[in-house]
Amino acid sequence: MSEKKPRVFSGVQPTGNLHLGNYLGAIRRFVELQNDHECIYCVVDMHAITVWQDPAELTRNIREVAAAFIAAGVDAEQHIIFNQSQVSGHAELAWVFNCVARIGWLNRMTQFKEKAGKNREKASVGLYDYPVLMAADILLYHAEKVPVGEDQKQHLELTRDIAQKFNNDYGPRIRELGLNKFDEGFFPLPEPVIAGPATRVMSLKDGTKKMSKSDPSDLSRINLSDDADAIAKKIRKAKTDPHPLPETVEELKERPEADNLVGIYAALAGISKQDVLNEFGGKGFAEFKPKLAELTVETLAPINAEMKRLLADPTHLDAILKNGAERARAIADPIWRDVKAIVGFIG
Ligand code: TYM
Repeated sequence: MSEKKPRVFSGVQPTGNLHLGNYLGAIRRFVELQNDHECIYCVVDMHAITVWQDPAELTRNIREVAAAFIAAGVDAEQHIIFNQSQVSGHAELAWVFNCVARIGWLNRMTQFKEKAGKNREKASVGLYDYPVLMAADILLYHAEKVPVGEDQKQHLELTRDIAQKFNNDYGPRIRELGLNKFDEGFFPLPEPVIAGPATRVMSLKDGTKKMSKSDPSDLSRINLSDDADAIAKKIRKAKTDPHPLPETVEELKERPEADNLVGIYAALAGISKQDVLNEFGGKGFAEFKPKLAELTVETLAPINAEMKRLLADPTHLDAILKNGAERARAIADPIWRDVKAIVGFIG
């Protein structure tokens, strides 16, 4: 009998402007994990509406993320691609976890503080509760590995805390029902997979700020939908400093913009930052930037073309999502049934 492959879960929000950070920090890693894992990749539409989304745009953006997964190389037949709202277990398990997670834990979430900004009282309750739904996403499938960018590390820690508290609070009941599925109890403690030179791609306009879908300046990010000219222009205009590239990674420390561009190059070429500096150390940005633009276009152009092709046939994409949701439900339903039994619900 073949060994069961570890299960991977990750999600991307359909909030528009998918960018190079999403690709290098997450989507490309999704593809790499496919060979030796059972992967479930989710378009987290319920997370998206924690901030206002125009309904027609949301529908388009859901398809766009699904298309990006496939265009980047996720195999929707061997693995699962679906959108969150088609599997009701996410919302149901999130409710149980709302009763496990503590308010103090959520109060520590830095992403909520950043996203809510000064106007905290006006933020949606959903935005505050966002990380609990994320824990439900992962644990509904008993997933053990979660490929994400650096910014999701704290949410993953919260997921582990929720799993652990559930396992402890219901420990006797879990044992009584014989539902100790993992060493840790009913739920595994999922591991984040955060690795490589591009776990935090920074804005092209400010090397101290994360590249983000919501940055008002389109020049701050490279979108997966950008054509070759737009990419070249954005890299040409990217902020830098007046010095040539250094010889060692150590010397990049005080130079956030240079560090970011070298990191992007390294991630795209599949080499280390030091390898990049071995080639470009001592050279100016005027020489480095066109090479970086070339490499970026080389990587993104085929993805961009394939996304366009897929998006031209929304019926086909919707069928892929529907089929993925059915297969996701087949995994989630028995786990949700067990949760209900553990908690003491009837039915
Ligand atoms: P989202 O849509 O904001 O981001 C999707 C993925 O892209 C990564 N990412 C980055 N990586 C490197 N550099 C950047 N500048 C950058 N910006 C974004 C994010 O870390 C993420 O991996 N909360 C998640 C969505 C989610 C999820 C989940 C993830 C919902 N449920 C369950 C994993 C498991 C998010 O931030 O999505």
